[in-house]
Amino acid sequence: MSSEKGNVHYLLGVKPEDSHVKSHASRTADEECAYMIPTLLDLAKSVPKLRLLDVGCGPGSITCGLARLVPGAEVVGLDMSETVLEAARMEANSQGVTNVNHRCIAHLQHHVSAINELARVSRKGGGRLCMREGILPTFMWYPLNPTLDEAWRAIMAAYEANGALTDAGRRLKAWAVEAGVLRETICVHGRIMVLRYTGAPEALGAAWPARVSEGSLAERVVDIGAASRERLTEYAEAWRQWIDDEDGLFMLMHGQVIARF
Ligand SMILES: C[S@@+](CC[C@H](N)C(=O)[O-])C[C@H]1O[C@@H](n2cnc3c(N)ncnc32)[C@H](O)[C@@H]1O
Repeated sequence: MSSEKGNVHYLLGVKPEDSHVKSHASRTADEECAYMIPTLLDLAKSVPKLRLLDVGCGPGSITCGLARLVPGAEVVGLDMSETVLEAARMEANSQGVTNVNHRCIAHLQHHVSAINELARVSRKGGGRLCMREGILPTFMWYPLNPTLDEAWRAIMAAYEANGALTDAGRRLKAWAVEAGVLRETICVHGRIMVLRYTGAPEALGAAWPARVSEGSLAERVVDIGAASRERLTEYAEAWRQWIDDEDGLFMLMHGQVIARF
């Protein structure tokens, strides 16, 4: 069932040493799941044996944060990569979080059928389905930098060449409806992700020069002719300068939905 190759859509690497996996490991439930935490806490009060599935849990820092919020719940982190799940298990152990398990799932190749299955599972016991995705074309840099604009467009082109949609966040409600979820049970939220100067090397932005110049995403950018290898080096350098700029800012919209059954 498991694979380290990933599916056709998921272009980023899945090893704990991959730059973006490191950056995901610094994410927190409070920040990333603010839209669904009130719903989760309400459910924890009313559902005696609450079960929470974190699908695409990655290295698991968010899963641990959610598990700590609902210590009486059984939490399961699912991912397609055994390697990243190993990192997630270590994270749970190091944090002393005991109500979380991690399992590998078969690839979810098609979004509507995946949502249909997640809705089927969530429906049991009157649960909720909470989903969040980025809307990559909404990117915004400060300071203005045409090289970074170009780099971001090259990344989006690589995703699209791999059959992925870069604007999934704005489609979540429509996909849920297509998957059979009743429109009136769906609540739509939005969030703006903000990356800013922190001065800390492990900060989210620090992963990006490597992400754009080496690894599977960078290879794909070159393969499809969106940029030359030399240009990738320039993207990385522009990104480094942005990271070091105390006034630097990157913003991106996310779509978030909650369906109640
Ligand atoms: C962008 S990371 C997010 C990790 C974490 N939820 C976070 O927000 O920091 C996406 C994760 O989903 C997993 N993933 C992507 N596509 C998948 C699929 N089709 N089936 C299962 N897991 C998938 C990847 O392995 C990766 O760990």
